[in-house]
Amino acid sequence: MGSKLIGCGSAVPKFVISNDDMAEIVETSDEWISVRTGIHKRRVLTGEESVKGLAIEAGKKALEMAHVEPDEVDLVILCTSTPDDLFGTGAQVHTALGCKNAWAFDATAACSGFLVGLITATRFIKGGGYKNVLVIGADSLSRYVDWTDRGTCILFGDGAGAVLVQATAAEEDGFLGFDFHSDGQGYRHLNAKTSVGGTEEVIPSTNGSINFLPKKPAFSFIQMNGKEVFRFAVSSVPRSIVASLEEAGLTNSDIDWLLLHQANWRIIDAVATRLQIPSEKIISNLANYGNTSAASIPLALDEAVRGGKVKGGDIIAASGFGAGLTWGSAIMRW
Ligand code: ACO
Repeated sequence: MGSKLIGCGSAVPKFVISNDDMAEIVETSDEWISVRTGIHKRRVLTGEESVKGLAIEAGKKALEMAHVEPDEVDLVILCTSTPDDLFGTGAQVHTALGCKNAWAFDATAACSGFLVGLITATRFIKGGGYKNVLVIGADSLSRYVDWTDRGTCILFGDGAGAVLVQATAAEEDGFLGFDFHSDGQGYRHLNAKTSVGGTEEVIPSTNGSINFLPKKPAFSFIQMNGKEVFRFAVSSVPRSIVASLEEAGLTNSDIDWLLLHQANWRIIDAVATRLQIPSEKIISNLANYGNTSAASIPLALDEAVRGGKVKGGDIIAASGFGAGLTWGSAIMRW
């Protein structure tokens, strides 16, 4: 049993923050941000908007393109590190979409999350019993950035992207190679920690019962050592793409499109150079949305497909990398 991509969709919040707007919030400039990152603007959730809302809109568009009815979906995977609810948002997305014959769960692997969702979808299909799996990447890192830290707040934006993965005959398999890694030691370079320990204070009482003062749950802002993350990305991602190409039995020259997690143009450019992939084969919409974490790959894919860039049969090398640390690649045919 194989699987293939048959539809995609995306959604972004309405509110746009340009680099000039950023310069009103922190000490920075359009020039610094553009030159160091390639980002010109980003979108962030406001008012009633939510990760769930974006995920629903993106998922709906992917189903429409795939000509698959919601009740034909067997599984919904919401790839997110920023659910609206700590216990997960996937089930709410699944129900709002009307996927009444499916079940749903959240998958968390920061900016590699969408790739994790993709490989999970293909494994469920290969295992049998699953025909249509909706994989949605949706994140709102704007909720967790320190808007006084110019080293991080300029980088991130919110958004969602989705694909429909459908079962197909083994000889038509559209997923040709995968490669995945994680390194918990690198956690110190990029994290958003939760409060440690469940209680502020535990006081054993004389009658044997335990009294405790609960802590208010809290996350710290995103902490990042940008230089280390940069170094990690430009060394790990090319190796990962080469490994997934080897599994696919392909080489660099077979790649029609390089689709990396949209974190920083200099990272994308360095990876393309190492792999000797010409710039016209790079898919990037980083300039308009910044780093949208698990949403960035499907959001860029959707724009490239709907814009007529990516055509049926094209080979895409996709790679996600980020907090965890986690990184991975997929070679897939559109
Ligand atoms: N505007 C102006 N100056 C700034 C800004 C800013 N927004 N941010 C930092 N600076 C200053 C610093 O204070 C420093 O000044 P100093 O020399 O006086 O001390 C100077 O610019 C250089 O700072 P660096 O941090 O060394 O700048 P660098 O060239 O490394 O660029 C950047 C920083 C853009 C963050 C880069 O390191 C990067 O993109 N790293 C990768 C980050 C990334 O992609 N993270 C996401 C991973 S995905 C995920 O899972 C979330």
